[in-house]
Amino acid sequence: MHDATPGYVPAVLEANRKLVVAIDGPAASGKSSTAQWVAEKLGFRHVDSGALYRAITAARLRAGGSPDEWSEPSVLAVARQVSLRPVERGFVALIRGENADGEIRGGEVTREVSRVARMQSVRDWVNAEVRRAASGHDVVVDGRDIGTVVFPDAQLKIFLVADPWERAKRRLVQRLSRRPTDAEIAEETERLVQRDARDATQTVQARDAVLIDTTYLTQSEQVERIVALARGVTSRRGATSPVDGEADSR
Ligand code: CDP
Repeated sequence: MHDATPGYVPAVLEANRKLVVAIDGPAASGKSSTAQWVAEKLGFRHVDSGALYRAITAARLRAGGSPDEWSEPSVLAVARQVSLRPVERGFVALIRGENADGEIRGGEVTREVSRVARMQSVRDWVNAEVRRAASGHDVVVDGRDIGTVVFPDAQLKIFLVADPWERAKRRLVQRLSRRPTDAEIAEETERLVQRDARDATQTVQARDAVLIDTTYLTQSEQVERIVALARGVTSRRGATSPVDGEADSR
């Protein structure tokens, strides 16, 4: 006999279901680096959905023309040049089969990526790629709408926030490898706040997400919190998983 309640999953299937940890949040809230580190500690794979939006934007920039005039079909057409290559603990976004990490993290892509991310057919394409990459693995997936749209049934959802000034400072330290000046932080804060506004519709905190404000946390503290929550999930469902045994000292 089956329970016909929508969303009902028999206990035996639930225990075998792969674990999805969804990490969402605004620009430069530390999602990707945190997700990568959490995945490493849990022995999961990391999928960075933002890298796909960035790679599509870079591919469209290569094709030329003014971004104001990019049509949705022309953006979707170049999405086919983008793919994810599995690496040891996650995936790298490729353009025409080649790593373009420097290009996709650059200023021009960061400026234009939100307009691409607002196109529904592009979102559908990215979501399908992310689900395909995640399929069959325990994963940590980071983005804006992972816990609401891409994996609404994720067993653990985190929403990371931090004060914009702090986010800007962290992003600059990462980019410049030195202490930024207050003027540099102010300028970066302005850019982040503008991008947050452009991304507002797709940045949604799931109702069942755990909100973590990282303004006063070190990265290692926020990673430990998420890892502890993930271990709680696996022990509650009684599954034997790498989460229960593995720990590193990073
Ligand atoms: O790391 P950062 O917060 O700068 O951004 P990212 O995660 O690399 O994402 C780059 C852009 O992709 C964002 O500004 C959003 O426009 C878009 N994005 C999205 O719309 N939905 C996602 N799930 C992930 C990223």
